[in-house]
Amino acid sequence: MAFDPRQLTQLAAEHGTPLWVYDAAVIRERIAQLRRFDTIRYAQKACSNLHILRLMRAEGAVVDAVSLGEIERSLAAGFQPQGEPEGIVFTADLIDHATLAAVLKHGITVNAGSLDMLARVGQASPGHRVWLRINPGFGHGHSNKTNTGGPQSKHGIWIGDLAEAMSIVRRHGLKLVGIHMHIGSGVDYGHLSSVCNAMVDVVASLDHDIEAISAGGGLSIPYRDGEPRIDCDHYFEQWDAARKRIEQRLGHDVRLEIEPGRFLVAEAGALVAEVHSINRRPERDFALVDAGFNDLMRPAMYGSYHRISVHAPDGGQPQGSPETRIAVAGPLCESGDVFTQDAGGVVSDQLLPRPRIGDFLVFHSAGAYGSSMSSNYNSRPLAPEVLLDGGKAHLIRRRQTVAELLALEA
Ligand code: LLP
Repeated sequence: MAFDPRQLTQLAAEHGTPLWVYDAAVIRERIAQLRRFDTIRYAQKACSNLHILRLMRAEGAVVDAVSLGEIERSLAAGFQPQGEPEGIVFTADLIDHATLAAVLKHGITVNAGSLDMLARVGQASPGHRVWLRINPGFGHGHSNKTNTGGPQSKHGIWIGDLAEAMSIVRRHGLKLVGIHMHIGSGVDYGHLSSVCNAMVDVVASLDHDIEAISAGGGLSIPYRDGEPRIDCDHYFEQWDAARKRIEQRLGHDVRLEIEPGRFLVAEAGALVAEVHSINRRPERDFALVDAGFNDLMRPAMYGSYHRISVHAPDGGQPQGSPETRIAVAGPLCESGDVFTQDAGGVVSDQLLPRPRIGDFLVFHSAGAYGSSMSSNYNSRPLAPEVLLDGGKAHLIRRRQTVAELLALEA
């Protein structure tokens, strides 16, 4: 983690807490690690701030959108709606009326995750450019909630429905761009060769030409100290070998896309919060901070671990604080508003220098699915976001106001 604690606490003093901070250099470094893929299609659901999207675009990444809002964001960030591979790809398992209208208006390529979605696009726009998102019959995620393959997952066109998908493609003269597989987020690399083989098999059974394949996203990051880091070269080489087998069969070049979200932004982001209480309990005390699961939802939703560090108001080490096992929780009126908990919701803790009121806690590796999953629960406004780039701190989202929340109900 490259953040300077003094800078973080200065920013917290300037902008208030809770506060999201991102480091552009980390994002650039992660993009560089995946450059061997022909196309890096950023899954913006991980962190969709316009300025982060513009940074991705400047670095040559293209973008995936999963909602009308994400399409609008992509356009506002300057991404081309059309064209291969630079155009936006809309990936979903259904398409609502308003989103379909936008997709048709801008000629956005569709990655269909259900037969019904495919048919709806085909009926509305014969000849439209489509990908097929195939559920290969197995999946894996860091949690059951992020496993997007297999019979328990709602995602994708079931592998056994491939022939029917192809008949819809032919019926509506759809232009099949490629096959896409995303079997989960926080993947277990033990599945890598199975997915690659599944991709080769699916393309072999199509009896139809394609231009591209997509490896989906899912690349994990080391949330805990000592957790292994993905070997991007190995990951690429496995997919490249699959691509070459497909090229051999089709007799022409095939573009290889990857669609990461977490990998590009998780380690680039941190959430800063201030300690307002040390609430004592016989077993372990709770440090109560001014960020809640409305800001960072991952621990409450998946039991996810985020490393926490403690900083005195001037950014220095808390002086003379003994290390202590302490639970960290937020201000929400809900028992699950605890940042240190396991997947079953049992409160746990981290070994930290004992924080004092007024200290800042930093939640690390929170750039992915952090601010993008925030809500207004308990009528709490969305927290501001700051991007550090080239030695400068840019406020890329101001704090929402309560007046803005109330205005929607006026
Ligand atoms: N492509 C598709 C079709 C996806 O559904 C996703 C993530 C990605 C790519 C990017 O996956 P990534 O590279 O970020 O693993 N909120 C959860 C993660 C949910 C992922 C949803 N789909 C979390 O905080 O861990």
